[in-house]
Amino acid sequence: MKKHILVVPGDGIGQEVTAVGKKVVEKIAQKFGHEFTYDEALIGHVAIEATGDPLPQETLEKMRASDAVLFGAVGHPKYDNDPSAKVRPEQGLLKMRKELGLYANLRPIKLFDELLGASSIKPEILKGSDILFFRELTGDIYFGEKGRKNDGDTAYDIAEYSRYEVERIARKAFDAAMTRGKKVMSVDKANVLETSRLWREVVQKVAKEYPEVTVEHQFVDSAAMLLIKNPKQFDVVVTANLFGDILTDEASQIAGSMGMLASASVGDSTGVYEPIHGSAHDITGKGLANPMASILSAALMLDISFGLKAESEAIISAVEQTLKAGFRTGDIADASTPKDMILGTEAIGEEILKRI
Ligand code: NAI
Ligand code: MG
Repeated sequence: MKKHILVVPGDGIGQEVTAVGKKVVEKIAQKFGHEFTYDEALIGHVAIEATGDPLPQETLEKMRASDAVLFGAVGHPKYDNDPSAKVRPEQGLLKMRKELGLYANLRPIKLFDELLGASSIKPEILKGSDILFFRELTGDIYFGEKGRKNDGDTAYDIAEYSRYEVERIARKAFDAAMTRGKKVMSVDKANVLETSRLWREVVQKVAKEYPEVTVEHQFVDSAAMLLIKNPKQFDVVVTANLFGDILTDEASQIAGSMGMLASASVGDSTGVYEPIHGSAHDITGKGLANPMASILSAALMLDISFGLKAESEAIISAVEQTLKAGFRTGDIADASTPKDMILGTEAIGEEILKRI
């Protein structure tokens, strides 16, 4: 199969983990006889430094012209500590999602049995957890009008959802539920928010088209609690942009670490595949980042954008075998991990490559 992949590492550990993710894709192409071509482009802080723009037009054009994008992360402490910064790396990320129409963010919370001890949650509560989040990605409070009034003393961010926006993400979740446990949990805050009341109304309507699927509605606060109390009761979860952002970081603890969670952003055009974590400047440049989220994102890319199931499974299995062999990065090591089995970004990448 011939495919053109755009690699956009972005900032911080995005650079380090995406390099390993790309190597894995190259190995797959070689093993399975595919002809993948690659290009690179800038986003985030590195793009601002080079061009003044967090999402240069050239990057956007390259994204549109590619079959899939392997993405890293954006962000730099420089902006996090300067609320007055007008140009910010995250603007590049949000604009990319909007411009490419990436309205559905799939976040599988897959727990490898080998990592049962790595989480701060008890193994008996975790074992068997397998959740697929659908986070709406181009609406909500992230994209509404924002600003200041009263001479800057009052700030506002407006949350907005249209029927159409809720309907299309709901449909994606129900379609996925049909291939899994035929169960959808819709998470909102319909007791307080008008956007959530529309959300619930639309989800109930879409649900009628899927009589085999059981629907449950949960308020986000209660869902946050249940996620830790009994993660096994979750299967497919569909939720708004802000709630999904927060709940999936929480859910990363089910999988052991942020460094384990991959995501796929899909919609109207080119799909973008990226770890859920950020640029992690606390560990940037130290070679400590866990590249598995990027590697598993590459697996999602092969499966979802290219329909290469066996190739995707070969990657997941190589990660699993590496964990079975006892290798860990620092974020997923526990007290029982021997020191010499804790590897850096590149070294664990090599172990995974060997097993493909
Ligand atoms: P973060 O996800 O970068 O890091 C949170 C914590 O998890 C840190 O302690 C970090 O060291 C650890 N961590 C994350 N990924 C890891 C990995 N692969 N291996 C080992 N440990 C890992 O979130 P944080 O610190 O809140 O934000 C840092 C920057 O990233 C900010 O500028 C933020 O705006 C940006 N950000 C970007 C995202 C994106 O590009 N999609 C998503 C989230 C944050
Ligand atoms: Mg987040």
